[in-house]
Amino acid sequence: MKTTTDLFNLQDKVALVTGATRGIGLACAELLAAKGATVIISSRKQEACEQIAAQFQADGLKAVPMACHLGEMDQIEALYQQIEAKFGKLDILVNNGATNPHFGPIYDTDLAAFQKNLRCEHSRLLLHEQPRLQADGKKWWRQHH
Ligand SMILES: NC(=O)c1ccc[n+]([C@@H]2O[C@H](COP(=O)([O-])OP(=O)(O)OC[C@H]3O[C@@H](n4cnc5c(N)ncnc54)[C@H](OP(=O)(O)O)[C@@H]3O)[C@@H](O)[C@H]2O)c1
Repeated sequence: MKTTTDLFNLQDKVALVTGATRGIGLACAELLAAKGATVIISSRKQEACEQIAAQFQADGLKAVPMACHLGEMDQIEALYQQIEAKFGKLDILVNNGATNPHFGPIYDTDLAAFQKNLRCEHSRLLLHEQPRLQADGKKWWRQHH
């Protein structure tokens, strides 16, 4: 008989969590790893990713560090290539990483901060869409780059 825990068994699943080195992303990564997933710890800083992945491993959890700046298309492509080379699949995406250069009313936001935020948001949309496109058999990213 299946238990409630079995319903959330993520053994053999590969999960990518962006912005996984602190805050909400770290909490998501911890939960997924605790349920058995192999979690790819990603943020802009490789050292921070390695540190978090090492902590997970010390706790008996499965984690792999892979840095990626979500505002840089070439880094997103490289991330997918690394994931494909290492795992050949991606089951779960928590597309959480984001730059928040300004907190406050829009009339106080300078253009550079606004554009920095948009750049990251637009790029990470691609990260979100790519697995679906690949599942459809369309190697969209590689054909266009
Ligand atoms: N906290 C809130 O109250 C709140 C409310 C609404 C929405 N959100 C959203 O929830 C998400 C997480 O929020 P949080 O409060 O947990 O943020 P946080 O504590 O500031 O953590 C952000 C994470 O994203 C990474 N990151 C930042 N810019 C990145 C980039 N360009 N590419 C890749 N990774 C990047 C950071 O690591 P590095 O610095 O190493 O890159 C870090 O791991 C964000 O999308 C935020 O907009 C948060």
